Amino acid sequence: AENNHDAAEEGDNQLLSALPKKEGMWKPFFLYRGCWLTPRSVTSITLLQSQFAPRPDDVVLATFPKCGTTWLKALAFAVANRSRHPAGSGAHPLLTTHPQDLVPFLELPHRDVHPVAALDGLPSPRLLSTHMPAPLLPLSISALGCRVVYLCREPKDVFVSSWHYMNKVTADFSLDMDATFELFCEGFSLYGPLWDHVRGYWEQSVAEPDRVLFLKYDDMMADAGKHVKMLADFLRVPFTDEEVSGGAVEEVVAMCSFENLKSLPVNSSGVSDRIGGMPMENSSYFRAGKVGDWKTHLTEEMAKKLDCIVEEKLRGSGLTF
Ligand code: A3P
Repeated sequence: AENNHDAAEEGDNQLLSALPKKEGMWKPFFLYRGCWLTPRSVTSITLLQSQFAPRPDDVVLATFPKCGTTWLKALAFAVANRSRHPAGSGAHPLLTTHPQDLVPFLELPHRDVHPVAALDGLPSPRLLSTHMPAPLLPLSISALGCRVVYLCREPKDVFVSSWHYMNKVTADFSLDMDATFELFCEGFSLYGPLWDHVRGYWEQSVAEPDRVLFLKYDDMMADAGKHVKMLADFLRVPFTDEEVSGGAVEEVVAMCSFENLKSLPVNSSGVSDRIGGMPMENSSYFRAGKVGDWKTHLTEEMAKKLDCIVEEKLRGSGLTF
């Protein structure tokens, strides 16, 4: 039993021993098919690849960590379920459930036997989420035509957000910002490199725009209403003229705003373990919620460095930040 427990804690040792390993985060990470992961993520993802049964009407919300996953989950849930739960109603699930818990992650929580049974038990159409890069998604997802909503964010803001988050949630470990920045620039971060993650989904969205919707956090912040409508069209539940004139779009935007969600007791208090063995405060998903917060944390030189790397890595893709 002891050994089983260790295997579950540390991942599949046979697979892991064949993978490149790197120190520098709160635990060693492994490079699995071009993506830096914790040992348990590698195990979880490989189990998922063999066990997950997608359905053609599944919609997967895909993000690199700290790009606005929580917001996208709230928005997509609110849009998809508004006939049952009108936005702004006094009994809306978002008032009593953390957005992270309204849309389950494919690869989380980590288990030694992946809980695909829980996913199998969900009624269709399912809203699911993932941090996996496009090449790690089970192949059957694209083969079946499952739709994907990808949300990305300005890379410097992603770095700043993830640095704060890691320091908050990895209790006994304090990551130095400069050192972590250097690692990030080398592509070494959880689910990194960031640019490969973004580029992978970007290229899918160019090739299959009806299947993969590509969104940017900064654009959503600038005009949330427009994006809520796009999301509704993509989810095949477009807003009716009546809804639009009745303010239903604005209701969704207001209910899912940073200020509103952050202030709700279900999001501002308490601790939950969504990863497995890593309890964290519910409030850690809500920090500043700003575009350009990097300006108060990074030097000009750091900003230029990351800009240059991202520009070079995305060159020829048609995607810029
Ligand atoms: P900051 O750390 O820059 O504030 P994720 O949900 O992928 O973990 O991303 C977290 C980031 O999204 C955090 O960014 C968080 O504050 C921000 N965020 C959370 N909810 C939001 C919302 N409703 N609207 C806008 N940003 C939100």
